[in-house]
Parts: sequence; C-alpha cells; structure tokens
Amino acid sequence: MTEAAGDAEETERRQAPAGRAGSGGAGTASSGSRGFILVANRLPVDRVPDDPAGNGWRRSPGGLVTAVEPVMRRTGGLWVGWPGASGEVPGVFDVGGLTVASVGLSEEEVEDFYEGFANTTLWPLYHDVIVPPQYHRRWWEAYEKVNRRFAAVTARHAAAGATVWVHDYQLQLVPALLRRRRPDLRIGFFDHIPFPGYEIFAQLPWRRQIVQGLLGADLIGFQRVSDATNFLRACRRAAGVVTRPGGIAVAQPDGREVRVGAFGISIDVVGLERLARSPGVVARAGQIRAELGHPDLILMGADRLDYTKGILHRLKAYEELLDEGRFGDRRAVFVQVATPSRERVAEYQALRKDVEGVVGRINGTHGRLGRPAVHYLHHSYGTEEMAALYRAADVMVVTPLRDGMNLVAKEYVACRYTDDGALVLSEFSGAADELTAAFLVNPHDIDGLKDTVVRACAAPRPQLRRRMRAMRRRLAAWDVARWAEDYLAALRTAPLRPRESWTVAADPS
Ligand code: G6P
Repeated sequence: MTEAAGDAEETERRQAPAGRAGSGGAGTASSGSRGFILVANRLPVDRVPDDPAGNGWRRSPGGLVTAVEPVMRRTGGLWVGWPGASGEVPGVFDVGGLTVASVGLSEEEVEDFYEGFANTTLWPLYHDVIVPPQYHRRWWEAYEKVNRRFAAVTARHAAAGATVWVHDYQLQLVPALLRRRRPDLRIGFFDHIPFPGYEIFAQLPWRRQIVQGLLGADLIGFQRVSDATNFLRACRRAAGVVTRPGGIAVAQPDGREVRVGAFGISIDVVGLERLARSPGVVARAGQIRAELGHPDLILMGADRLDYTKGILHRLKAYEELLDEGRFGDRRAVFVQVATPSRERVAEYQALRKDVEGVVGRINGTHGRLGRPAVHYLHHSYGTEEMAALYRAADVMVVTPLRDGMNLVAKEYVACRYTDDGALVLSEFSGAADELTAAFLVNPHDIDGLKDTVVRACAAPRPQLRRRMRAMRRRLAAWDVARWAEDYLAALRTAPLRPRESWTVAADPS
C-alpha cells in the first residue's frame, strides 16, 4: 500500500511537509475548526514545478472557486479535494488565498476509482449510456474506499455544526458517510451532471447504496428539474424511500426529511465580460481573425474531448455543409478547441482517434495551402485566450448529446457584450432550459443541425441582437455567485422551509 492509499487521517498527518502547510497546517490548530468545507474530487489548483516564490501550486481559475470564495473567506473555509495525480500529497496548504486539504489517491485508486467507477461506470450511465457503462466489483470497492477517505478528512476538519458542501458524482457516498461520523453537520450535495431516468439508473448494481449515500445530505441540488424528478423516482424504486410532493425524500431509518431541488449552475458573468472587454483580449481577438486569414465566417466549438459533447456530430454537419457548398461565396473556417481529458480511458482514446480522422478528412478535401477548413486544437487554454476566441467566433456551435449544464455556452454569451454572434445550442444541455433564445438543435438530427447552422450564419443583425440580448439578460440575473448564495441559503433552512427562489422538483408520485 502506498502512502496515498493509507488511512486518510494518518496519511494526511504524515504527508504535510514542514514549511508547506498554510494557516493551521494539518494536525495542528486547524483540526475541527472549519465552519465551512467544500468537498470536490478536484482541488482548484495546478502544480507549478519551478516556482521558487510559491509552494509549488497555483490556484486554477474557475467559476465555482470564484463563487465560494466570499463564504470561504468569511468562515475561514477549507476546500477538500484531490490534486489530480497519484502519489503523495502535501496535506493542508494555502494557495492564492484559499486553504485546501489534499486527499491522496494511489495509482491503483486512480485506475479503479477515478478512471474506472467514476468515469467508465457512472459518467456514461448518467449521460444516458452514450457509450456502454462497465460494472466491476473491484471498481465499486475502490469508490467506497475513496469516498470513506474524503469523508474522514472532512469530518476531521469540520467545526461543530459546520456546513459541508459536497460536489458531484465522484463523491455520492460522502453525505451518508459523513453524517454517520458527524451528525451535527449541515450537509449539502450538488450534482453537476445529469441524473438519468430510472430505466437507465436501474442498471447500476449499487443503485440502492448510491441513493442512500446521497440521502445523507440535508439538501440535494441538481441542474435541472428533470434531474431532481429522476432522483426522487430512484429513491422510491431503488431504495423504497417515501417521497412527498414538493421535493422531499424521507431518509431511513431516522425519518429525516431531505430536500431535493434544481439550481442550475452559472459562471462569473461580470468577471468574464470585464476580461472580454480588456484591451489585451480585444487585440488578441483581432489577431486571431488575422491568423485565420480574415475568413468571412468563424464557427467554433470548445469542449473537453468527451463523447458526451457531440464533437463528431458537429464536424459531420460542417463537412456536409462544405461538400454541398452551403456557405456560398463566404469562406468559412471551423475552430475546434478540444481540451485533453481522461486520456487513459479507452473510450476517450477511441474518440480522439475518430475526431482526428474526421478533421484530417475535412482538411484533405476542403483545405488549401495555408488555409485548413478546420483548426483543431488539442490543448487547454487559459481564460484570456478563450475569451479572445469567443470574441473572434461568429457562430458558437455547442452540440452535446447530454450535458448537465454546459458552461461554454454561457461563457460565449457573457463575452458577446456587443450583442452580436450566434449560439447554436443542443436541446440536451441544461443551458438550453435557460438560453431559450439560442438557435436550439437536436444534434442527432444532422440535417436539422446543418439547417440550423446555416440559419445562424445567415441571420440578420437585428435578429442576432434580439436573441443575444435576451440571453445576456438571463445570464446577468443568474450568475454563479447568485447560484451559490441561493443554494447555501436553501441549505441553511433545509429541511425546514423551501425558499421561494429555488425550483422545487415536481414529484409525480
Ligand atoms: C465535469 C465534471 C467535473 C469534472 C470535470 C473535469 O465537468 O462534472 O466533476 O471535474 O468534468 O473532468 P476531470 O475528470 O478532469 O475531473
């Protein structure tokens, strides 16, 4: 057993190197003193190997971290998570004004818990089995073990009566495990990805344990009302749990009332727009257009390279539009940013091969010397470069086959402060519930997708302005800070009374 695979508390105590631990290092005064703890599989940090000034880590940008920062500062909060690589972890440390507690995974746990159960069982199952999920008992055991480790670290740092907010599908057992150790805590859970219909969820051999794990929370939040409704049905069918109208599940054996509701996540709208307006980004957007050879139309996609995102569907539609000459005299280019993701998982490797094959075929047929028809970028870009790309793109094509929310769609809208640009958006994304003024599509319908892309490319300015303004109004009213405040306010009062501003899942029972 490696250090990282050992008992969580013991591991954490042994792994905090002197001089690295931040305010209240591991095993010192910080133990049991945190009034607010956020628990997520990932820490919001990147490793910086040559960093003489810092401690070897840098804070990574992200909406969630921006949103919870005020409450973290107010409460002396802590973020519990995995730094993203196997092996030893540095325990508790400060990074960019945040205090984080790192949870270690051994190489075997990365394979069985992260790549296996989280990303080859749950991820495809929860995304409507776009690829077949695999069920392996060894992976489930690793999932239980790692969830126990997260719960142990959290229990150790939480002050009496603290609030703990657990995030996403990797950690669905943590609420019940934590409640067993620390019944004094107020526990929230938020699921960032879809929760599937029962006919699909029922495949999972451990469906009852997952439902019971989640029911350890006081409030379970989902992206959409339909996800919350699916979960309530799973409570009844998989675990025989009684549910009540208004989004309440009655946990057994204690009879606690657990609230279930929808809270669609958002982005830091003001911060991103400010960045998009900055002179550096404006200049870079112009430079991107120039580097692309001043095409008449720039279409763009930006995703993690994931089979849920419908990248092949959108490339197929674009290829057929080029084959058929449907852009007319206008020279179009497609920029596809495909951020490397879960690269050791077989389905991701297969997808990469397929995408790169299609890109090669399109460029072979439609490219000219120095003028590819698709610019395929298998890289991860910083927020500034992404903002510049969003500013340069005339049409943003977001075509997931299934997506909890899709923040790329919201980021594009936030950057279009000039009220121009077109968003083509899949009906199967959570964002489609909110951005109803987008050009909505069913990405499985390639002809429909092609027609919609053509309509978006040809739409007159006043129509684009009307659509963009409507989307921007919605975004301005619902940014990530509002989302976090709303969720946490509901958690404070759960399970006593629902807040008016949150959507209670309709319970069809
Ligand atoms: C999705 C999930 C997150 C996850 C992210 C990146 O957005 O909801 O929980 O962190 O993808 O995936 P990764 O496997 O790299 O953490």
